[in-house]
Amino acid sequence: MQMSNRITSFQCSPIRRLVPYAREAKSKGIHVIHLNIGQPDILTPDEALQAIRNYDEKIIEYGLSEGEVELRKGLLSYYRQFGIEGLDEDNILITTGGSEALQFAFMTLCDPYDEFIIPEPYYTNVATFANIAMVTLVPVTSRMDDGFKLPEISEFESRINKKTMGILLCSPNNPTGHVYTEVELRELLELCRRHDIFLVVDEVYREFCYDGKSFTSILSFPEYADRVICIDSFSKRFSMCGARVGAIVTRNKEVLESALKLAQARLCPPMVEQRAATAALTAPAEYVKRVRECYEKRRNTLIRAMQRIPGVRCSMPKGAFYFVADLPVDDAERFALFMLRDFNLEGNTVMFAPAEDFYVSKGLGRTQARFAYVINEEELEMAARCLEAGLKAYRKSVMGL
Ligand SMILES: Cc1ncc(COP(=O)(O)O)c(C=O)c1O
Repeated sequence: MQMSNRITSFQCSPIRRLVPYAREAKSKGIHVIHLNIGQPDILTPDEALQAIRNYDEKIIEYGLSEGEVELRKGLLSYYRQFGIEGLDEDNILITTGGSEALQFAFMTLCDPYDEFIIPEPYYTNVATFANIAMVTLVPVTSRMDDGFKLPEISEFESRINKKTMGILLCSPNNPTGHVYTEVELRELLELCRRHDIFLVVDEVYREFCYDGKSFTSILSFPEYADRVICIDSFSKRFSMCGARVGAIVTRNKEVLESALKLAQARLCPPMVEQRAATAALTAPAEYVKRVRECYEKRRNTLIRAMQRIPGVRCSMPKGAFYFVADLPVDDAERFALFMLRDFNLEGNTVMFAPAEDFYVSKGLGRTQARFAYVINEEELEMAARCLEAGLKAYRKSVMGL
């Protein structure tokens, strides 16, 4: 039987497609250190876990398509902590993770073959969400040598045409760790206003900004209210990735009323997990502060260790929990396979995500990889040792150097 041309053309996620090789390595007794995926080892707040334990309904019923009122009200208080005022619960649509929020955004704002501009490298799963909605992603390349900062506004402007519906940013950025400044955001908002397009900002890593830097949310520009859409998620903030709770937040009620058609068809977001998310919002501010400090330390450990490896280039990310490194190899995916199939150091190896598919532009990122620092520092140190030894072995046996 033949599958659709559509699905055949979709990518397998570079974050997950090497998993079978990792499984095989594990079956041979090798310890695989996972730097490929943003699955933190941080404990979920007790408040959230208790809410699940205390769930004592007799039936797990469908709920509201837009999400439970308590959760949306809870989010309003949470946003106020970031100085975001003037929202009400009708500005929030709860989704099944930030993933569904991204999908809903494309489906709501775009017709087939419309375009969305996106800085690359970008969160690679966006490719599939855009494909589902038949939206063309138009890249503007951010460069490692510039710390992946926002490319010139003129580069965005030169790509705007009649089919352009908006710009999608991710801040703090997955995969680069860049955090967009208030000035950068304002420039983009002005550009969007001039061309009457949307600015969608994925802020699922909002809390994770380092070096004492503060975060500017796109929701704190009420003067651009109608063209601003924020993508949010509980996955990373409260280390509850499997709960699948996210949100679309916008002051543009027409956008949410339209997205609600999609939400009604999928009935409701997960009900038990919404209780957990509501409870997570009551966790003490200390929880998120501790998590941020923990990631900051891990970042410092892994980046310093990576920067000591001959031929590896990477700069200090400012937020989220990823960075992109350039490796002294011919092809990062081939090297990733080598690490899983043909290499171990004292019974350890490393899995990471080859970065080529984090670019829309073909041919970019072939020697780059994305690394996540969501595990303990001892393992991160070991991972860097493995990478150094693995690079030496790969360059000798595969590249003949
Ligand atoms: C930038 C970004 N947006 C959205 C998501 C999706 O998150 P969720 O688990 O809420 O679907 C992720 C997950 O890694 C992400 O990195």
